[in-house]
Amino acid sequence: MQITKSVYLVSGAPYDLLGNVWAIRGEKGVALVDSGEPPAAETIEESLRFWGMGGLPVTHLFLTHGHADHAGCALYFRKKGAKTVVQEGDAHWLREGGFAADRTPYGEGWTYPPCEPDIVFREKTVFAFEDFRLTAYPLPGHSDGSAFYEMEDIRERSDGRKGRTVLFTGDTFSFDRETGEDHVVLCWRGSPDYDPVKLKESFDFAAQRFSPDVILSGHGMPLLRNGNAVIRAAARKFLNTYR
Ligand SMILES: [Fe+2]
Repeated sequence: MQITKSVYLVSGAPYDLLGNVWAIRGEKGVALVDSGEPPAAETIEESLRFWGMGGLPVTHLFLTHGHADHAGCALYFRKKGAKTVVQEGDAHWLREGGFAADRTPYGEGWTYPPCEPDIVFREKTVFAFEDFRLTAYPLPGHSDGSAFYEMEDIRERSDGRKGRTVLFTGDTFSFDRETGEDHVVLCWRGSPDYDPVKLKESFDFAAQRFSPDVILSGHGMPLLRNGNAVIRAAARKFLNTYR
């Protein structure tokens, strides 16, 4: 599913799989944001072929965090040459391949093939993917290593105007208008490193800092307008229901 001139949804909710996977189409390669649950590799490959990216190598994998429905195919793409990028707090989940059942309050195991990350960032960091610039922001809470990535779709520039700003938000919140008035969905709280204090700080920062044109979250549907209002709605819902 094409979302902007350069960004496509290549696995996740519409494919009946867990964890949205976004592809950024470059001239010589593809960058993925997240890699879906372990069985998603085939669907991702099929979607890349469908959208004409089958001949391009996947050169980068930017992870929003290390849970199995986002990092599940990290090893698969790393073996094919993708540089794997993760925030420091979740690098150990990647190396350990997620967590066993005895490490969650719900007793659910959530594992995937372990993968050594290539790049681990600790603070706001700008990454280059061809001519795109992705700014990574550590925003812990859902997991300790959760992160957002912000980029301008440079292929949408015209007449001196900037392309739309795209914000990849992982699991901190997602969006589902069809659920009605209460249209933001807050993150799962079962991770062993879930931290509501850090999550509040992350929501406070996000509500103040980001006014994206497009929000692409780890689950649910893409949001193509009212970015800042929806982030603020998610922050309010967090204060009213999770604290
Ligand atoms: Fe998650």
